[in-house]
Amino acid sequence: MNSDMVFDNIDLTKEPPTAEPLRQYYFIARCRRWAETFEQENGRCPTYFVQTFGCQMNARDSEKLAGILEQAGYVPGENEQADFVIYNTCTVRENANNKVYGRLGTLAGYKKQNPRMKIALCGCMMQEAGVVERIRKDYRCVDLVFGTHNSYRFAELLSSCQQSDSMIVDIWKDAGGIVEDLPVKRKYPFKSGVNIMFGCNNFCSYCIVPYVRGRERSREPEEILREIEGLVNDGVCEIMLLGQNVNSYGKNLKNPMTFAELLREADQVEGLKRIRFMTSHPKDLSDDLIEAIRDCGKVCHHLHLPLQSGSSRILEKMNRRYTKEQYLSLVEKLRDAVPDIAITTDLIVGFPGETDEDFAETMDVVKKAEYDSAFTFIYSKRTGTPAASMKEQVPPEVVKERFDVLLKEVQRISAQKAARLEGKTLPVLVEEINRQDAALVSGRLENNSVVHFSGTADMIGNIYPVVLEECRGFYYLGRLAAHA
Ligand code: SAH
Ligand code: SF4
Ligand code: F3S
Repeated sequence: MNSDMVFDNIDLTKEPPTAEPLRQYYFIARCRRWAETFEQENGRCPTYFVQTFGCQMNARDSEKLAGILEQAGYVPGENEQADFVIYNTCTVRENANNKVYGRLGTLAGYKKQNPRMKIALCGCMMQEAGVVERIRKDYRCVDLVFGTHNSYRFAELLSSCQQSDSMIVDIWKDAGGIVEDLPVKRKYPFKSGVNIMFGCNNFCSYCIVPYVRGRERSREPEEILREIEGLVNDGVCEIMLLGQNVNSYGKNLKNPMTFAELLREADQVEGLKRIRFMTSHPKDLSDDLIEAIRDCGKVCHHLHLPLQSGSSRILEKMNRRYTKEQYLSLVEKLRDAVPDIAITTDLIVGFPGETDEDFAETMDVVKKAEYDSAFTFIYSKRTGTPAASMKEQVPPEVVKERFDVLLKEVQRISAQKAARLEGKTLPVLVEEINRQDAALVSGRLENNSVVHFSGTADMIGNIYPVVLEECRGFYYLGRLAAHA
């Protein structure tokens, strides 16, 4: 699939098929015709530029957009002055939205210089109430708007956009089915994200994701494994299994299966070297999964386990469904089973009603859990979520003060943990020739830290034992160990 043959043999005089993905293949073929005409008229192929805002899931979706654009006859442009620019947006915090509005102003300027240019917006922010109205009113430069639920129809929307001079808006309230076998253009040759589920059912009270991504849907395990095998055949050695809460994978399948079972199956894929996954919700982290992490040779000893707050009182208001004590005992269980496991987390400061005592509880967990690293966020009020209407929003200056204290502590602990690995010999998966010094290669440890050491291009994609000679904050300088 994805070969030129498939698309060039499609008969465009016929009506488009109704079944997917055949319908999208038909529209890719139609876009290719359009691109040929463009090339004849302009002496060059049309260019595209995809800009991702947001999480790994959005990044993976962007690879799908790029895949369709390339099959549709576009070539990568260098910047936002391309002929087709698409923003894949995020709305998890207010500042994600503001960034998009700010940059649209700049895009409008580019469009004046290149009237053939088309501007498209998609992703989570488009599913949010009020956003489309604002775009229609204030950002007339935009040509195409679609959401998360119909992104698999991108080829069809692109084709309509090529034929139209007015803004096309297509937002679905609910999720359609999962469509497999659409083209993908990976950002990295050696690693890839793999969606295992879409949406979220947890409704943490601060979070907008369940509203913009819809209910939880798992992909069939056969489809996931087929995709992984295909990726491995195409040179991928590391995969990241993606979902908002991978620990509840498979519950709604016709033949239910657990995430631990899926991990064990992925671990069997020949040629695959490393498996990562994100995100794990602490409330659903089973003993079975801990055992799978311990037993599966390819599963990295790294777990991203978002805490959000260390105060049981705030956790309850957040609807996280675990307490401080339950979280800490999970961490203990993990370290008992997998002593070298790296644990990372997400933290929110300034949730409504957070007192100094609540914040002190968060600091306490941070000290006890000894995170290898942590993403710290200032609470952002998202319209429509239960937390947005909670009284007692914390004053910004108090939040800022707590945020600074937390960040400093998180950084102190992660530097300390990173330094502890100095002198150790650990497996490094080589990813590329070092960008500054061609005599070095760069790779990653299981905990995702970068290591540079002397090596050659033929080492890319393989795992080597490396002595971590010097820790330089966020990366290490190392030396290939004599022999494993
Ligand atoms: N599904 C994942 C996280 C998705 S969002 C999980 O449950 O862990 C990524 C992170 O953004 C969250 O873990 C949380 O820390 C942060 N976040 C989500 N909503 C937020 C908000 N309204 N304000 C600040 N941070 C938020
Ligand atoms: Fe948001 Fe909670 Fe779902 Fe994560 S689990 S996406 S924080 S609602
Ligand atoms: Fe943002 Fe959507 Fe991901 S809101 S964090 S891009 S799921």
